[in-house]
Amino acid sequence: MADCMQEWPEPVVRVQALAESGLSVIPSCYVKPPCDRPAPAPAPTMAPPAPAVHPRKKEPSSDAIASIPVVDLGELLAADGAVATVTEAVAAACRDWGFFQVVNHGVRPELMRAAREAWRGFFRRPPAEKQRYANSPRTYEGYGSRLGVQRGAVLDWGDYFFLHLAPEAAKSTPRFWPAQPSNCKDVSEEYGREVVRLCELLMRVLSVSLGLDEAHLQRAFGGAECGATLRANYYPRCPQPDLTLGLSAHSDPGALTVLLADVLVRGLQVRRAAADDWVTVQPVRDAFIVNVGDQVQILSNSVYKSVEHRVVVNAEEERISLALFYNPKGDVPIAPAPELVAAASLPALYPTMTFDEYRLYVRNKGARGKAQIEALKGQGTPESQL
Ligand code: OGA
Ligand code: NI
Repeated sequence: MADCMQEWPEPVVRVQALAESGLSVIPSCYVKPPCDRPAPAPAPTMAPPAPAVHPRKKEPSSDAIASIPVVDLGELLAADGAVATVTEAVAAACRDWGFFQVVNHGVRPELMRAAREAWRGFFRRPPAEKQRYANSPRTYEGYGSRLGVQRGAVLDWGDYFFLHLAPEAAKSTPRFWPAQPSNCKDVSEEYGREVVRLCELLMRVLSVSLGLDEAHLQRAFGGAECGATLRANYYPRCPQPDLTLGLSAHSDPGALTVLLADVLVRGLQVRRAAADDWVTVQPVRDAFIVNVGDQVQILSNSVYKSVEHRVVVNAEEERISLALFYNPKGDVPIAPAPELVAAASLPALYPTMTFDEYRLYVRNKGARGKAQIEALKGQGTPESQL
């Protein structure tokens, strides 16, 4: 186990290089089993439309474009803002979707664009230059093309760059940062600081929305020592987008994810458990997409659930996204908040675990839907022992 986490189990192939080689059939290691493939776009049909008097049952389709809730944080940032309205909107979004978009979030649109363009610039650098930052499963920092070290795993159609931004002690050392584009490090650091500030605000809103004191989540996750990592995702064009995924279904292991996604090239899909289908997110201009991670599900004792999501690719356009993961400090034991356990007279559903222990699973096995957190369910402390 220790050894297999040192190196990738197979030679790493850059998806970008494959895509740019102009192949028309993707290698079999990217072909997902049929149950995991995105639903193909409906085939054009010559049959006349069904008469209106006999409407056909609408099939669930992953082509549905969702307007996930949009929360305006402007009120919160204004001195006399309507805090309760925002809190209620966030609570409803977390309960109903696990995902929402935020506008008027305080991060300058120019900084958002600069960060995205810096990373686009990196992925456009020559292959040999990017290769200097090739990552290993030991820390994942740098230029990568797979998640998990399972030999023979089905791979995703995407490359990424992964960095630690915070806390200061855990920050990726200078050798991991791209030298080109020359502003990449400065812009990413400034972007990171601003988005972390947004995460701190969202932590307060989430705490209040759960009926906890404002500082509860931040404190439980390690206070000023919370972690932040950045993953710049690059999804090249794909000649057979119906057979693969840019990123397999997963929930995010940390506390909160703030995603900057391309408004023009859609790709993120969110699973609606109740309807058992996938919907495609249409990002709002200058907004961030926010989702709660597994640690919020654990701490809230499943009042808020981390939601599965995945990325589909397409034949026409490459896609770039920046995911900032706001994580608990690695060595803080995390367990369901006693207040929530008692209030709902539910047993604590999850055992106490540090984030360092928790994230080993995904680093070893890759994206596996919600398998990890589901497996932990029911291993919590019986109520009588709280
Ligand atoms: C992620 C993620 C979605 C996207 O990086 O964890 O879910 O649209 N990304 O790239
Ligand atoms: Ni994710």
